[in-house]
Amino acid sequence: MADVPQDILSEIANLERLFTVDTAKLKEVTEQFIVELKEGLEGKGNIPMNPSWVMNFPDGEETGRFLALDMGGTNLRVCEITLVDEKGEFDIIQSKYRMPEELKKGNAEELWDYIADCIEQFIDSHHEEEKDSLEVLPMGFTFSYPATQTYIDHGVLQRWTKGWAVDGVEGEDVVPQLEAALRERNLPVTVAALVNDTTGTLIASGYTDPAMRIGCIFGTGLNGAYLETCGNIPKLAHMNLPPDMHMCINCEYGAFNSKGNHPVLPKTTYDVMIDEQSPRPGQQAYEKMLAGLYLGEVFRLTVVDLHDNKNILFPNQNIDAFRTPFCLDASFLSFIEEDPFENLSETQDMFLDKMKIHANKPELELCRRLAELIALRAARLSACGIAAICKMKGFDSCHVGADGSVFNKYPHFKQRNAQALREILDWPKGKKDPVVVSSSEDGSGVGAALIAALTVKRIKEGVTYGIRDVSKFGAPEKIAVPEEKGATGSIDTEKAKEGKPQ
Ligand code: BGC
Repeated sequence: MADVPQDILSEIANLERLFTVDTAKLKEVTEQFIVELKEGLEGKGNIPMNPSWVMNFPDGEETGRFLALDMGGTNLRVCEITLVDEKGEFDIIQSKYRMPEELKKGNAEELWDYIADCIEQFIDSHHEEEKDSLEVLPMGFTFSYPATQTYIDHGVLQRWTKGWAVDGVEGEDVVPQLEAALRERNLPVTVAALVNDTTGTLIASGYTDPAMRIGCIFGTGLNGAYLETCGNIPKLAHMNLPPDMHMCINCEYGAFNSKGNHPVLPKTTYDVMIDEQSPRPGQQAYEKMLAGLYLGEVFRLTVVDLHDNKNILFPNQNIDAFRTPFCLDASFLSFIEEDPFENLSETQDMFLDKMKIHANKPELELCRRLAELIALRAARLSACGIAAICKMKGFDSCHVGADGSVFNKYPHFKQRNAQALREILDWPKGKKDPVVVSSSEDGSGVGAALIAALTVKRIKEGVTYGIRDVSKFGAPEKIAVPEEKGATGSIDTEKAKEGKPQ
């Protein structure tokens, strides 16, 4: 950077101070994370730690035909998954539908109608001939938002995240809302399980890898899930579940450090602005600093500040193209980081094409460093959630299954994240990493179908804790429920059908 003028050089140094998260900070964040994870299990604090009523990994013997619905941010995906007789094998057909932007801020009826229309189209195109004779297909519904689940086939939306704000869904159970729209169309589909994408990722990855302990998403949003034992979940104590029974916890750790007396997140003024201008200020503090949805926005706000207030970037140029909130996504940053040319000519062309800005070499150098710093901060800070679960659970070595656009596509994310884990967990140099985060199987497709299969299997075996509607899939004669701590008893099917907590 020999030819970079002094004012730009000192601004780069300033940005480095703002965005760099050193090892000590990573450790401090991780320690506070452990505190908040534990508080969540007690039903307090920032992190919801939602019990998901997924109680174990599949054993590979599950069979049958299932639907999976993934209500993602950009697309809606419907899959049909047939778990075949060969252990661990499956066939999959799938279709994608665009998720119109306006639906994300519309009302509940429009949302569920649109989704049910897509499922109808899927059934029409894949089962035209047998439509009327089709047996009811159990569906795993990947709903990647925080939901309180008293049962696996139930989920009250706690709050929208990732910029969604559909009216009439927060505080409501989303399963009957979707099922009503399915019924209106006479579709042979019923929701067997409501699944978070992290839970789906954990279960799908654990299907093929016995060392799998944590599922996480680094995408538009971020979050993690792991298997806890019921004895360690004080907020479920009143249910008298067997203490050694497993329960997958959807942490919803994007909410880490949102409020409270121990703020540890190294927020910049840009992070504060993003939060204040979001539809849900004061929520998802950790996610808003790190997740894919916000990376481009941090970059945009910084560029606007350096132009408007410091006169450092693009003086005397019109930067209106940078003024629309969320006009840049994470791919803008990854493009800059991936520019193979020393003179950053690809970045220069992109600034001209997309933003109508003539950027000179020093300005390009600053933008490149800024993109790198924002993404590096995201990769490093997002290691804290994983490290905290590992420390809390005593996972000295394990596999972590990860999914999401940032993890899969952002250059160097995996290496930067792994380096941060090494620093937080103090692994000795030169040895193989004991905790390895790698790309997971398709959690929102195969994972959701497997969880639907596990639910149907549990009903057939009479193990129906946490299933609201056992009648949907042929209720068993006797239903096992825990009567008192550590014991298993049985109740009659009628009571279970009424949906009494079990
Ligand atoms: C949601 C989580 C989800 C994560 C990743 C967050 O905004 O609250 O439920 O797992 O995004 O998709």
